[in-house]
Amino acid sequence: MKPEEKPPTDRFLLHGPVTDGGTMMTPDRVALWWIFLDRIADSDWQTLEAVVSEEERTRSERFHFDRDRQVYIAAHAACRGLLSYCLGGRPQSWRFSVGDHGKPELISPPDGPRMRVNISHTRGLAAVALTVDHDIGIDVEWLQRNAETDKLAKRVFAARECRTLAAAPQARKLETFLSFWTLKEAYVKAIGKGLSQPLDAFSFDLDTLRIDFEDRLADDPAKWRFERYAPGPEHLMALAVRHPEHSRLTIDCMAAPLDYLLAQGG
Ligand SMILES: CC(C)(COP(=O)(O)OP(=O)(O)OC[C@H]1O[C@@H](n2cnc3c(N)ncnc32)[C@H](O)[C@@H]1OP(=O)(O)O)[C@@H](O)C(=O)NCCC(=O)NCCS
Repeated sequence: MKPEEKPPTDRFLLHGPVTDGGTMMTPDRVALWWIFLDRIADSDWQTLEAVVSEEERTRSERFHFDRDRQVYIAAHAACRGLLSYCLGGRPQSWRFSVGDHGKPELISPPDGPRMRVNISHTRGLAAVALTVDHDIGIDVEWLQRNAETDKLAKRVFAARECRTLAAAPQARKLETFLSFWTLKEAYVKAIGKGLSQPLDAFSFDLDTLRIDFEDRLADDPAKWRFERYAPGPEHLMALAVRHPEHSRLTIDCMAAPLDYLLAQGG
């Protein structure tokens, strides 16, 4: 059940960054970056902070713990960096609006296609995923937390997910729980509803990564592509993309190129 790193079919992210006026994004591509906080030197934080907007810097100052402030900065710097890497322009210039349930949406340039982006952050890791026009959601979770997984699952998971979790060996409980959790969060983030969407109205099969919906949720499993990854030994990550022909999607994921990000803030 361990998520595997899939061999990339087309590392289009390695073609970039784009030069002005170009784009490497097409409707059949997803670009995904993750960034580990422990790879960022103390002396680089100031430069990274210069990649985000003034408003995001101010928001980051409200966090009580340094680790929360830093992962927020890393996530938003990676988000802005990925946009500029794939689409050109300055990272600080991207603007966002916020949907009914809090989902930030990029305000795309009027002359270009609609770009969709989603970010996630957890202890020690942030990630961002970008695509053209399609609903997209990403979730990352830290594996080292103490959680009463069976109890929590009974409250929020679908019955068949609870059965899979109950059958998992004790040593795999947390990983199994978070495998479901990251997939479910990626989905509710992709549809923009967040946790206002009941998590027991849909369920996953961890082997096939197929989603199934209860009737109360009018959605079509065939339209969804899910992926899960283990970017490091202590974290899980899941991606959800709604795409009419998702077998055509190329998902290119890699660690955010720090040199590029720091050059954007320098
Ligand atoms: C979205 C939500 C599931 C995030 O869960 P989480 O595991 O704590 O956080 P993650 O790190 O995975 O994701 C956070 C990011 O998702 C994005 N986000 C926020 N709301 C979102 C939503 N409804 N859908 C998709 N993405 C959302 C933001 O970029 C946020 O990062 P930021 O706060 O640094 O800008 C959860 O916060 C939620 O359900 N929020 C909805 C609350 C709501 O309904 N509010 C209504 C009034 S605004």
